[in-house]
Amino acid sequence: MLNIAIDGPSSAGKSTIAKLLAKKLNICYLDTGAMYRAMGWKAVTNGIDPTDEKKVEKMLLTTTLEVRYIDGVQSVILDGKDVSVVIREHRISKAASDISKIGKVREFLVKKQQEIASSMAIVLDGRDITTKVLPNSKNKFYLSASSEIRAKRRYDELIANGQDVKFEDILKDIIDRDYNDSHRANSPLTRTADSIYIDSSNMKVDEVLDFIIEHLVEE
Ligand code: DC
Repeated sequence: MLNIAIDGPSSAGKSTIAKLLAKKLNICYLDTGAMYRAMGWKAVTNGIDPTDEKKVEKMLLTTTLEVRYIDGVQSVILDGKDVSVVIREHRISKAASDISKIGKVREFLVKKQQEIASSMAIVLDGRDITTKVLPNSKNKFYLSASSEIRAKRRYDELIANGQDVKFEDILKDIIDRDYNDSHRANSPLTRTADSIYIDSSNMKVDEVLDFIIEHLVEE
């Protein structure tokens, strides 16, 4: 079964590429970052510090998380409520990055991601897909771009969504999150030797897509 794994830093264009790739191949797409965002959102809205391991572990005991596909589009259902839109808010990005350091949170979400991937042909994107979620996939990619270009893409996206943000803040945020995501003890973002590296700084979306499709192997 085709399980495509895409890792890379924040705003590298992973979800755009993964979504289009899934559509082209007529398979599903799992945005694993959305699952960490849902956990971060729950902590923040309940006044729980996302770095407080004990409180977050307690929160997990009363948390249900489900991923549903409606016409191929992913919805994240947290405790029975669709949170797909609210988790995209800028203030949730840091909470998601913080909560993703907690081992029990990762265990909880990785297990769900593996269950989903074993049941269908799918594209997954995140930070630990090539290392932890799908270590045996034959189709691993690491998608990156310079921090300035990633910040510009994220800034344009947030402005288009009507959020009031400054470019300098977004760039600092990207640099901080890169550090956070690649230096944590649990499943840090790393490029595995068997991942195909793509620097999308000067590539158009279609070029990245064509490149990935050319390199896919059967599994
Ligand atoms: O892809 P994103 O920016 O929406 O992800 C939000 C955070 O979740 C990100 O800072 C790191 C974390 N994350 C992770 O640790 N592992 C994943 N597979 C996906 C995301």
